[in-house]
Amino acid sequence: MKLKVMAGHGRKKVLEAAAVFLFAETGPATGLAASLDREGGGAIQDIWQLGDFAGRKDQLSVLYTGEKAGGVRRIFLIGLGKKEAFSRDIFRGAAAKAGQAARSHRLKDLVVVLDADYLGISWPEAAFAAVEGVMLGLYRFRGYKTKIEDDEPDLETLTILLPDAQRLEPVKEAAVRAQTISRAVYLTRNLVSMPSNELTPARLAGEAKALAKRYRGLSVRILEAREMERLGMNALLGVARGSRESPKLIVMSYRGADRKQRPLALVGKAITFDSGGISLKPAEKMEEMKSDMAGGAAVLGTLQAVAELKMPVNLVGIVPATENLPDGGAYKPGDILRTMSGKTVEVLNTDAEGRLILADALHYAQRYNPEAIIDIATLTGACVVALGNQVTGMMGTDEKLKELIRKAAEETGELVWELPLWENYQEMVKSDVADLKNSAGREGGAISAAAFLSKFADPVPWVHLDIAGPAWLTKDRPYQPKGASGIGVRLFVKFLQYWLEDS
Ligand code: BES
Ligand code: MN
Ligand code: ZN
Repeated sequence: MKLKVMAGHGRKKVLEAAAVFLFAETGPATGLAASLDREGGGAIQDIWQLGDFAGRKDQLSVLYTGEKAGGVRRIFLIGLGKKEAFSRDIFRGAAAKAGQAARSHRLKDLVVVLDADYLGISWPEAAFAAVEGVMLGLYRFRGYKTKIEDDEPDLETLTILLPDAQRLEPVKEAAVRAQTISRAVYLTRNLVSMPSNELTPARLAGEAKALAKRYRGLSVRILEAREMERLGMNALLGVARGSRESPKLIVMSYRGADRKQRPLALVGKAITFDSGGISLKPAEKMEEMKSDMAGGAAVLGTLQAVAELKMPVNLVGIVPATENLPDGGAYKPGDILRTMSGKTVEVLNTDAEGRLILADALHYAQRYNPEAIIDIATLTGACVVALGNQVTGMMGTDEKLKELIRKAAEETGELVWELPLWENYQEMVKSDVADLKNSAGREGGAISAAAFLSKFADPVPWVHLDIAGPAWLTKDRPYQPKGASGIGVRLFVKFLQYWLEDS
């Protein structure tokens, strides 16, 4: 999709559609929409007076102005709800609605009439949210349909229309940045959406290599099973034993800052399919477990965004990738695995595989002498029970990191909520026969999983994000069509921005 930013006066040609956003109380009284409407014969004023459009949140009316409205064929009027309740997340949702309306009308072009003063946010913020909303809301995954019925073509151009040329530059910059980040979210969504017969650990490693080819400053190394053996990564290898696909440890490095700057490590779980292994999951919804690599995919997406934005930071992205399947060679309940760190783990449930592969990945991350480690994983059903499927569970050992993540969460709408990780939880993961056990039962399951991970991140400042809920959506949300959400990318990019400002 092409992105343009234009100031009101430069408009000459006829526009297919313009999206105009209105609050519930104020209506079309002020701002760019009002002047557009005056030019165009008052269609917005008319529908408002009739009461057919009242600016309710998610309300959409289409006006046909006979091109009177400054050469605009159609106006999509989109409600923002009450001004007091307004947030950028609501605006992202409204922008998504505009994009979806344009596509369902089979239009190639959409103009978003932007009026940040009316919205009460800054101009770059408004442009950023508009582009994110339109792009994220238009995402669809359909590489596997050989015949598409009732096809709606992709939008070709999105134009942000400003009242004057005054803020053209900062708005352009914000819009392009939002597009870059949204594309990275697309990458993550695509990877998560792909079926596991195609998106194998090897294929995921191939995608990482492709990224490294495409972006300067980005390099990748793939550790094969032989090297894992040499390093003693027997937790990762143990999980991989039930699969015919060979495991890969994907290590991506991005250097955007001085060589002497210690990196931040991002570690992402990539179980390309989680059947549960010998502790087999029930059949119902098992297909959703193709998304058990969403953490790893978020790390790839983040590295793409950071590399394309040329952010001045050093990063290592570590993605342990394997399937979790039952097979004659599979690891079994009761097995004891010796991790790369030397700590031994008793396997009580082969379906608690995420923490095993992360144990070796977190320990391996320490080789890079990172300033901090953040891991992201679809780790526990317990986290979904605790927080629902819109919120990421956060646990960790570093207050500063958590604070910055919380800020980034508020900013991006990728919500996180902290669960406690007090010392007393560490008891839960002790084994009778080994150092640790990989399952502590149902109670406090998200936290005991984090307690387990903490042993392998220690002593590096560390935060764990459990995205089991928000990684895969079973219902459409305003700018997240159901399916893969691509969660984590926008959160990480924003977090990194704060982290850089802070250091
Ligand atoms: N990948 C699952 C967690 C999950 C559940 C992600 C639902 C997304 C939606 C993970 O590997 C798992 O199976 N966890 C077990 C742990 C238990 C056996 C201790 C769980 O949550 O049931
Ligand atoms: Mn599992
Ligand atoms: Zn899993």
